[in-house]
Amino acid sequence: MNEQLKKEIENRRTFAIISHPDAGKTTLTEKFLLYGGAINTAGSVKGKANSKYAVSDWMGIEKERGISVTSSALQFNFDGYCINILDTPGHQDFSEDTYRTLMAADSAVMVIDASKGVEAQTIKLFKVCVMRHIPIFTFINKMDLEARDPYELLEEIENVLGIKTCPINWPIGCGKRFKGVFDRNTNQVSMFQAVSVGGSKSAAETTFDVNDEKLKEEIGDDLYEQLMDDTELLDGAGDPFDQELVDKGELSPVFFGSALTTFGVETFLEHFLRMTESPLPRMSDAGLIDPMEEEAFSGFIFKIQANMNKAHHDRIAFMRICSGKFDATKDVFHVQSGRKMKLSRPQQIMAQDRKVIDEAYAGDVMGIFDPGIFSIGDTICTPGKKFSYEGIPTFAPEHFCRLVALDSMKRKQFMKGVTQIAQEGAIQMFQDYNLEMSEIIVGVVGTLQFDVLKYRLENEYNCDVRLEPLPYGYIRWVDNEGVDLNSLKCPSDTKKVKDMKGNPLVLFSNEWSIRMMLERNEGLELSEFKKN
Ligand code: G4P
Repeated sequence: MNEQLKKEIENRRTFAIISHPDAGKTTLTEKFLLYGGAINTAGSVKGKANSKYAVSDWMGIEKERGISVTSSALQFNFDGYCINILDTPGHQDFSEDTYRTLMAADSAVMVIDASKGVEAQTIKLFKVCVMRHIPIFTFINKMDLEARDPYELLEEIENVLGIKTCPINWPIGCGKRFKGVFDRNTNQVSMFQAVSVGGSKSAAETTFDVNDEKLKEEIGDDLYEQLMDDTELLDGAGDPFDQELVDKGELSPVFFGSALTTFGVETFLEHFLRMTESPLPRMSDAGLIDPMEEEAFSGFIFKIQANMNKAHHDRIAFMRICSGKFDATKDVFHVQSGRKMKLSRPQQIMAQDRKVIDEAYAGDVMGIFDPGIFSIGDTICTPGKKFSYEGIPTFAPEHFCRLVALDSMKRKQFMKGVTQIAQEGAIQMFQDYNLEMSEIIVGVVGTLQFDVLKYRLENEYNCDVRLEPLPYGYIRWVDNEGVDLNSLKCPSDTKKVKDMKGNPLVLFSNEWSIRMMLERNEGLELSEFKKN
């Protein structure tokens, strides 16, 4: 393999950052970018009304609401590495895009608020990481505020998420008594020193060897003794670091820090880069494609973003490059349409800035102009190569509405609009299992997508609609081959539907009802994901 190409790819790291809203994902991302010199000021990049927006916010609707609807990809360089961060929406109303973004990442960083522990949204995102067996790193944030007991936090991660943990560093106190962190590898203690939010890149951290008498003076006898006890306990009873288990996503290296005060961020980055791998191989219908062996360019579309810029009325498809080098002057082959083409306006995207690029490498994520030909999961590769990457699964929505067109004369436009929006993957569309097209049911992962749907149908397709909420919160695909839903015994609070490909599904109002359905129908297979 070409040495230069190999080096470029080897130095790349592509990870997604996940958390529950407010745990500090935006703050941490911003600090990463600051280290990489990708942004110059650290002013709170919060997506709140009347304040500066997070670098990853861009859509009008998210500005109105001050939240991050879309996931974006940011790139920066640090310590010889080229790092791609895939940002995921941080609001309660996240969407299926968040899940899809995780399909494009090689590892995930999970940010946890030290006073709260594992929260609902983290659990959902975590499940997708587990499905992919990618390494998961934990950053326990906000140690400068009152925090829960670190052992309790680790136990919660292990019990709730079912992953082993291995603390790489260990906190000394928290809140007002937060003194710093102890690095279990080097036996050094980095003393906590807050840095002003918009200020310099890093704190001039003072470090002491754990055996240094001065450390005792600095942190006091109580905390020192506690640290000694903790280290003994961790060494004796904790899971040892095991890179193989980390690679398989079975052991999460844990770091404690404070993103806002830039404490522990650099240490985290350094360890993280050492403990993660360069772009991972990916499965295709021609077998595993390894970027370290396959020189030819290839990638897949994992997200389609419509109308990011209203003035252009364009669609951007996001592609994760999986092998080789993308060269903007060369033709590529879109496998699903069987067409050779030049990708139009390839770009890297950062906030409102779109930087047109001439080249990109395996591991990178880029946006390409989509004239309406790409679908989620499509493969793009070098002409002459013919294979498709494994599709991106469809994830179970959790909110459902009946969608009604107010003007029956506009039925055609309405159907066109809702079908197109569903094809882009913003919503999922279902219909009654037995009644052809009489009602359209839409399902979304986060309720904001309902607003986006209504807004877009009204603005882009000139159709006024009404959304009638349905009392279901769960949907499951019935995996048994050739099953007729009418032959199944369904609890009364369920509804039988099919998706646009005709796959049978059942809507449930609660988990209890799902269990009941499984009990009543022996051999029934229900799933939360649909492989495409
Ligand atoms: P998110 O993207 O995960 O939703 O969280 P975000 O980074 O926006 O952080 C949520 C709030 O927590 C912000 O405060 C942020 O400043 C604060 N925060 C993040 N990391 C730390 C930390 O290490 N220590 C402390 N003390 N606070 C932290 P906010 O008041 O909601 O926003 P802002 O007005 O400060 O921008």
